[in-house]
Amino acid sequence: MKLRSFIALTLVMLATLIVIGCSRPPTAVEPTQLATESGETLRSLAAKQDMFIGSAVRPRALSDEPLYREVLAREFNIVMAEHVMKFAPLHPEREVYEFRDSDTTVEFAKEHDMQVIGHVLTWFHALPRWLREGDFTREELMGILREHINTVVGRYRGQIYAWDVVNEPLEADGALRETLWYKGIGPEYIDLALRWTKQADPDTLLYINDYGEGLNSKSDSFYNLAKSLVERGTPLDAVGFQAHIGFLSAKDAAEVAENMKRYADLGLEVFITEMDVPITMFKGTREEQLAAQAQMYEDFLNVCIEAPNCDTFLMWGFTDRHSWLTGFTGGKSPLIFDEAYHPKPAYHAMMAELKQHVGSGAE
Ligand code: G3I
Repeated sequence: MKLRSFIALTLVMLATLIVIGCSRPPTAVEPTQLATESGETLRSLAAKQDMFIGSAVRPRALSDEPLYREVLAREFNIVMAEHVMKFAPLHPEREVYEFRDSDTTVEFAKEHDMQVIGHVLTWFHALPRWLREGDFTREELMGILREHINTVVGRYRGQIYAWDVVNEPLEADGALRETLWYKGIGPEYIDLALRWTKQADPDTLLYINDYGEGLNSKSDSFYNLAKSLVERGTPLDAVGFQAHIGFLSAKDAAEVAENMKRYADLGLEVFITEMDVPITMFKGTREEQLAAQAQMYEDFLNVCIEAPNCDTFLMWGFTDRHSWLTGFTGGKSPLIFDEAYHPKPAYHAMMAELKQHVGSGAE
């Protein structure tokens, strides 16, 4: 290569690196800048009222970003893997399990005295090719699911606060979703998965999880499903309300509060499992959007605190630096810390909400 071309190529590469570098969100935030003056955090305030407050986590960020680890451990007392405990990443080939990333998550939680929620044992999505394309009989599919549950739940026996056993079992119209499990085993896959999970870890809490948490025909179907499981004596401790606000989920906190009540009558807990609120769902200036987002987080947290059967509140991430929404729906800035790990108005609104209840002694 001629010298001139070499220099030109080097300059182009350097310029590209600079552009890539500049397009990354800033990271140079001193950790000491982040602590609130009082030293209080979401975690410390939640603990005062025996509440779990948490976030979905990504192992890559855990290993690569000290600030991610620091803020996560400081602010939360419960975590859930965002992707790596699903069927495909855990069980990529019929005879192969990959536990490295889920182990990292569980280890992190242990080191920082946090609880872990397992997500997820049966879902229509995140299934490996060998399973999607395999031509299995009903008995074979039952064997595969049972073996998966025994292996995964068994590995973490005694270390998982609650398992999301069945994720998104319903279609938008409230009918049972025609997942691989439904088509291959029948609607009883839900009962079987719950029973097998209970056998593999008798002390973990079991829940089913979906979106559409307001008052509507889908939430009625979800309630009826939970009720029928309880009536049949199938082990079930809770239901999860995902709360992806502005994306298929409820926007009206009062409706969610109303919906929660009927689960208390069934003896079931309700977990808020995946809350996020893209600011792009609100009109106005950025400041107005951030204020509306803060209000939404505060309202949903309030619903959980006020309900006698809700003490677990998780968001689908905590920093806008890492959110599924940005890539998937284009929804912007959905979480409570910005891309540089600075707390947003939503964080302060949640702190204020927690403080108010600690202050009023409503524990
Ligand atoms: O980690 C792999 C990487 O190794 C690979 O090269 C790359 C190529 O596609 O994929 C990476 O995995 C991606 C993974 O997210 C980690 O970022 C998967 O493709 C991608 O499908 C996966 O998306 C996740 C999605 O569920 C499917 O599991 C999202 O992060 C996660 O936020 C989303 O979460 C769901 C809940 O489980 C259920 N409720 C709705 C919620 C939002 O869709």
